[in-house]
Amino acid sequence: MRLQVRDLTFAYTQKPVLNHVSFSLETGDFLAIVGKNGSGKSTLVKCLLGLLKVSNDTIYLDDVDINSIGKTKKVGYVPQKPEFNSEFPITVKEVLTSSYQGRRDQSFTAIVNDLEINRFYYDNINCLSGGQLQRIFIARALLNKPKLLILDEPTAGVDKANLTGLKEILKRLKNQKITIIMITHDTEYTNDLADYVLHLDEILDYSFEKTGGSL
Ligand SMILES: Nc1ncnc2c1ncn2[C@@H]1O[C@H](COP(=O)(O)OP(=O)(O)OP(=O)(O)O)[C@@H](O)[C@H]1O
Ligand SMILES: [Mg+2]
Repeated sequence: MRLQVRDLTFAYTQKPVLNHVSFSLETGDFLAIVGKNGSGKSTLVKCLLGLLKVSNDTIYLDDVDINSIGKTKKVGYVPQKPEFNSEFPITVKEVLTSSYQGRRDQSFTAIVNDLEINRFYYDNINCLSGGQLQRIFIARALLNKPKLLILDEPTAGVDKANLTGLKEILKRLKNQKITIIMITHDTEYTNDLADYVLHLDEILDYSFEKTGGSL
């Protein structure tokens, strides 16, 4: 998916959080977004997801203004703080299969294996640790086969083995020409994946640099 951001300014109150931000990505590009706490990283991706309202003519997905796109499964999202408050006893299996139209095919199994979800596949979702829950959210976003995948600090709280698993998945998605945007404080992790780095600054400045990921 192509993404264009044109002179995007966003404010929750009077004080802007994003100030005249412009950049664009082509299909299959990997963008790492970095910056200090409070610099507007999550705000930016929420604008890209249509969760926060932006002016017309600022964000285009595949050349269509985001304000004229309804809810779309083409964009997958892993939020920064995954929460799952279910009153009902619901298992990991039910969560994953309910958001997956197809049968349990090869790609389903690969995602479940790479993220080591097998071990708690039949467990109740409310019994999972923070890192396990994070992996369920990553899996759920991937199962919808998005054309643009947005991950907000997906590596926070995930152990070493699963970081390797996640990297394998990201590499595979990149090869499949999925556009990926990942917010991270760990630039070493994204170094070889990222084609571009967007650096947001709390003084409302930003830089968008081509880095040319080697993977
Ligand atoms: N719902 C909201 N209402 C008002 N202000 C908000 C809201 N969400 C975020 N902010 C403010 O907007 C600014 C940017 O927040 P944002 O969550 O985008 O930062 P971030 O770069 O993702 O930070 P972190 O690294 O801590 O996740 C902060 O000053 C924050 O206090
Ligand atoms: Mg954030």
